[in-house]
Amino acid sequence: MKILAIVGSPRPKGNTNYLVDQALEAAAQHGIETEKIILSQYKVNPCQGHDNCSSFSVCKQKDDVPWILDKFCSADGILLGSPVYYYNMTAQMKAFVDRNYFLYRHDISPRMVCAGLIVIGGSAGLDHTVRALRRFVKLSADIHDDRIAILSGCASKPGEVKNNAILIEEARTLGSRMAGILTSTR
Ligand SMILES: Cc1cc2nc3c(=O)[nH]c(=O)nc-3n(C[C@H](O)[C@H](O)[C@H](O)COP(=O)(O)O)c2cc1C
Repeated sequence: MKILAIVGSPRPKGNTNYLVDQALEAAAQHGIETEKIILSQYKVNPCQGHDNCSSFSVCKQKDDVPWILDKFCSADGILLGSPVYYYNMTAQMKAFVDRNYFLYRHDISPRMVCAGLIVIGGSAGLDHTVRALRRFVKLSADIHDDRIAILSGCASKPGEVKNNAILIEEARTLGSRMAGILTSTR
């Protein structure tokens, strides 16, 4: 059983990445294999919108997305972490979300049986961002709301969240909850 985390923050020492690590560490303590991909460390181009994916066996874009999508499709649980940028997910995460259109146009559904969402913002737009990510997860894998664990919270400066014991605990609970869903579906 494996959870793949995809992080949309461009700050490796930022709040989202820290909380994602907490969630993954908690899941690993329940025997779940984990992996994390920080999108900003790879080439993730935006969709070009020719809307003709189904006529190609591979996406025309030459970047890292095809292998990231392979991992996305085979993971049992998906954890998406994004800061709020202008009331929505970051450009890195949105580019990745849009590139899932290739899967949709090939009728490929990810294996995902549960999901986690971690959304961190300074103060505003958290709900909107959660809704956007939850919609993506449900369109991708058609999983029920009770299998989507959600954490949203406020932090601004990089690493600020390290002093927030409540958010850290909530992130660890999210990881444990995902692990619990995965082990109960084994
Ligand atoms: C371009 C940009 C846009 C942002 N837009 C919002 C916003 O709409 N609402 C908000 O509450 N915070 C906003 N923020 C603040 C970030 O969400 C906040 O700093 C967050 O902690 C960043 O997460 P990270 O440390 O994981 O990168 C914005 C930050 C940047 C750089």
